Amino acid sequence: MNAESHVFETPPEGAAPDWTIPQGWDRYTPQEHATWDKLFARQRDMLPGRASSEFLKGLDVLQLSKPGIPDFAELNERLTAATGWQVVAVPGLVPDDVFFDHLANRRFVSGNFIRRPDQLDYLQEPDIFHDVFGHVPMLADPTFGDYMAAYGRGGKRALKLGALEKLARLYWYTVEFGLVREAEGLRIYGAGIVSSFGESEFALDSDSPNRIGFGLERVMRTKYRIDDYQQNYFVIDSFESLLNVTVETDFAPVYERLADQRDIEVAELVEGDDVITRGTQTYAMAKSLEVERDA
Ligand code: PHE
Ligand code: FE
Repeated sequence: MNAESHVFETPPEGAAPDWTIPQGWDRYTPQEHATWDKLFARQRDMLPGRASSEFLKGLDVLQLSKPGIPDFAELNERLTAATGWQVVAVPGLVPDDVFFDHLANRRFVSGNFIRRPDQLDYLQEPDIFHDVFGHVPMLADPTFGDYMAAYGRGGKRALKLGALEKLARLYWYTVEFGLVREAEGLRIYGAGIVSSFGESEFALDSDSPNRIGFGLERVMRTKYRIDDYQQNYFVIDSFESLLNVTVETDFAPVYERLADQRDIEVAELVEGDDVITRGTQTYAMAKSLEVERDA
């Protein structure tokens, strides 16, 4: 989902110096294409009234001439025409500097493998369904496309300033797990939510998680969990406001200020929070009891 950890330090054999590999679309099996179609149909039917209008509009670029896993060549024709972005295949997670460099140049890296049929509901590492279905529709939106490219430039800067942990939280709570306020109510746009059957319901309808108005420093101070549904979501007012505040803020002094402040725990509320819904946290509590019992 993001570029936090990586296994290799140099590109594996067969990968280019920028870590890209050919997608190898011809090598997908009929079963793998069927997995895509199943996941696609399930999310497409789930998302009207839940996903942001920008995401739903961007889904059009995924309606290709043939069903199954998108062929990046055809997908990129449409995506590049929309916003100048393209998708490139990589073997798995790539080093942070490589990831940021691709983003800054409007290339989104995608794993080229798809989950197994027994993993339709849950998968910890991002596969092509998460990467393409989750991320590409928003990359077809001009404002969000600009945000992602700016994030790539910001990432290179954060690396130099030793502030990656803080910046990665911004990615997590916007690009992966963000909510946006629309006239009719809250909507999901984060790729980790829209690509998940369970979380696309949970993030909006459950009374367990906190939903908090987005604040740049609030988000950058907040820890996150990677093993289960989020315990808090941050809500932006619009993609324009997200782009403006991130591009117009010089993060260097922010990183310096945050270095002296403690982290905020996943389910914690702090003074000054714009609390939209205060969560019961019953889901997370039940889950941790289960874990204790099984241990
Ligand atoms: N403005 C940020 C900086 O000064 C860069 C950035 C832009 C980060 C957009 C994230 C998103 O580093
Ligand atoms: Fe992701």
